[in-house]
Amino acid sequence: MNHPVAIITGSAQRIGKALAQALHAQGYNLVLHYFNTSAAPLADTLNALRPNSVTLIQADLNNPDASAKIIEHAINIFKQIDVLVNNASSFYPTPIGAATQQNWHDLFNTNAAAPFFLCQAAAPFLALQKGCIINIADIYAQTPKRNHTLYCMAKAANTMLTKSLAIELAPNIRVNGIAPGAALWPNNQPPQNEESALAEIPLGRVGGAQAMVETILFLINSATYITGQIIPVDGGKSVAGIA
Ligand SMILES: NC(=O)c1ccc[n+]([C@@H]2O[C@H](COP(=O)([O-])OP(=O)(O)OC[C@H]3O[C@@H](n4cnc5c(N)ncnc54)[C@H](OP(=O)(O)O)[C@@H]3O)[C@@H](O)[C@H]2O)c1
Repeated sequence: MNHPVAIITGSAQRIGKALAQALHAQGYNLVLHYFNTSAAPLADTLNALRPNSVTLIQADLNNPDASAKIIEHAINIFKQIDVLVNNASSFYPTPIGAATQQNWHDLFNTNAAAPFFLCQAAAPFLALQKGCIINIADIYAQTPKRNHTLYCMAKAANTMLTKSLAIELAPNIRVNGIAPGAALWPNNQPPQNEESALAEIPLGRVGGAQAMVETILFLINSATYITGQIIPVDGGKSVAGIA
């Protein structure tokens, strides 16, 4: 059996990990990228279920060589790429007056530049498979989150990446994204203002990783006539007003 191959960046925990488990269960072989949080325990678990189905690659997406290294590794091991998921991201406040050049480079590298260069390096291989790209944006790409200007700017670039590459890479590669609202709290810790944060969400709860995964799986598996779209997965937060 020829197993399709998916690359997931930032896959050791949270949404990336849940997606890895779901794609593996569907028969995908996986290239699991990570940086500081080892994805080895996840890879060991999945390889125990299906030997040689998962390979690991560690890279700091601030390193300009990282994108080429990840794609080369995928091709060396599995010889094909069917799906690229740009999930890795840095996220923290950069209040005006305190933002640094280093913040700019880190937030733009992880959320926009590395996704672009990963798409570019993967495109010839994805085209051969008539594959697809999923970029994880954020509802705050459309409406700013206070004190997070650089993150919001970088996710806005990520959103345009999806739209622009949908045109450039058609008809062989579909390019779509999701825009999570509150999927998981940072560090899995509810904030002090949890009650008011939940009050901004019409569905009244955080989405959890699984809600993100099911929409990504829809875009990969079922949305064969959709490209260039970013689906908000936010419990209605973006239509309710999020200032
Ligand atoms: N969680 C939410 O509620 C939410 C809301 C809106 C949008 N999103 C988006 O959904 C995606 C997944 O969210 P999440 O909360 O699961 O993500 P996360 O845990 O905050 O980050 C995912 C991974 O990104 C990796 N990463 C960060 N900086 C990196 C760097 N310099 N080089 C390489 N990898 C780096 C980290 O890998 P290591 O741990 O291995 O270092 C981390 O595990 C992200 O794109 C995020 O922006 C999430």
